[in-house]
Amino acid sequence: MRYLTTLDVDDAWLDALAKACPSLEIRRHRADSAEDVPADVWAQTEILHTGYVLPDPASVPRLRWIQLDTSGVEHVRAHPIWSSGVEITTLGGIAPVPMAEFVIASVLDLAHHAPAVAALRRRRAWPSPAERLASLTPLPVDGATLTVVGYGRIGREVARIAHTLGLAVVALSRRGPRAEEPDIHFDTGRPFEHAAQVEHLPVSALPEVLARTDYLVVVVPLTPETAGLLGERELGRIKPGSCVVNVSRGGVVDETALLAALDAGRVRYAAMDVFDDEPLPADSPWWEHDQVLVTPHIAGLAPRYSEQVLDLVCTNVLRIEEGRPLLNRADRAAGY
Ligand SMILES: NC(=O)c1ccc[n+]([C@@H]2O[C@H](COP(=O)([O-])OP(=O)(O)OC[C@H]3O[C@@H](n4cnc5c(N)ncnc54)[C@H](OP(=O)(O)O)[C@@H]3O)[C@@H](O)[C@H]2O)c1
Repeated sequence: MRYLTTLDVDDAWLDALAKACPSLEIRRHRADSAEDVPADVWAQTEILHTGYVLPDPASVPRLRWIQLDTSGVEHVRAHPIWSSGVEITTLGGIAPVPMAEFVIASVLDLAHHAPAVAALRRRRAWPSPAERLASLTPLPVDGATLTVVGYGRIGREVARIAHTLGLAVVALSRRGPRAEEPDIHFDTGRPFEHAAQVEHLPVSALPEVLARTDYLVVVVPLTPETAGLLGERELGRIKPGSCVVNVSRGGVVDETALLAALDAGRVRYAAMDVFDDEPLPADSPWWEHDQVLVTPHIAGLAPRYSEQVLDLVCTNVLRIEEGRPLLNRADRAAGY
C-alpha cells in the first residue's frame, strides 16, 4: 500500500517503518499545506500520516486511512475529509502515562503552593516563620477529592495514580460507566485494580460533584459539547479553595471565568497547559498570575513517542490489510 507522510520524520524512523511493514511503499513529502504536495502524489496515496495537512477528498481517490499525529480531531471536524468515507485514527494512547504523571505532578505542586513559592522567589522574598505557617502549609492531598472530567485513557491513568496517593476519585464522562469498553484503543495504560473504587458518573453530575471537589482535572476532548464546559456558573459552584489542572484543549475551560474565580479566591491555584490562544500572547494575564502555573502545551509529550507511533502505525497497517477495524478510530458521531 502507498503510504505518504507529510511529517518531518527522520530517515531512521522511516527505515524502521519499512522494516516493520515491508508491504508499504513509503513516501515522505514534508508539507505545511495540501498545496505543497504534488497532485500525482495525492492521487496515488492510500495511507496518509499527517498532523494538519488534509487533502480535498476529490484529490485522493485511493485514500483509505489517515493516521493523525494529534490526539484531538478538532482541526479536522470542519474539513470535508471528516464527512468522507476515509478512516481517521488519532494518536490517543501515546501519552496517557506521561500525561497522568504530569497531572499528578501538577496536583502535588499546587498542594505545596508552587505558584506562591515561585512568586516569592521572583520578588526575592523570604517569608517569616509565621507567614510560612499561615500561607505555605500544604493543602491536603491524602483524603482529599480529585475529580477528573474525561475518563478516557488519560483520565483513567490519572485516577489510578491519584488513588494510590489516598485521593478519593470522582470521574465524569459523557456516557458514564459502560458495561464493556470496546477494544479500539491502542494503549490503555496499566491495569487499575481498584477501578471499582472510583465514583464514575455521567457529566450531568458536574454541578453536584464540583461542590465537593478539591482538585479538578480537565482532560476531555474539545467538541461542541465540551466547549465552555467549565464556565462561570460551574466555577461558581466549585468548593472554595480548590485547585484546577487543565490539560484538555483551549475552549473547554472559560478562561475569563477561571481568572475571576482565582481573583475572588474561590479557586486557590490553577495549572494551565492549554489555552484559547496558543502560543500564549505576551500580554496574556496568565503569564504573571501569582496563583497559576503556566506550561506551553507540553503535558502530552512522551519519552517513547517514536517507538509507540511506529507500533501504532504498524498495528493498523496489519489491521487494514486483514480487513479488521483500526485502533484509535475517531468517533465521527461523538465528534472526537
Ligand atoms: N495537553 C496535551 O498536551 C494533551 C495531549 C493529549 C491529549 N490531550 C487532551 O486530552 C483529551 C483526552 O485524551 P484521551 O486519550 O484520554 O481521550 P479518550 O480516551 O478518547 O477519552 C475521552 C474521554 O472524554 C469523555 N468525554 C467526551 N465528551 C465528553 C463530554 N461532553 N462530557 C464529559 N466527558 C466527555 C469521554 O467519555 P465517553 O467515553 O463517555 O464518550 C472519554 O471518557 C484529548 O482529546 C485532548 O484534548 C491533551
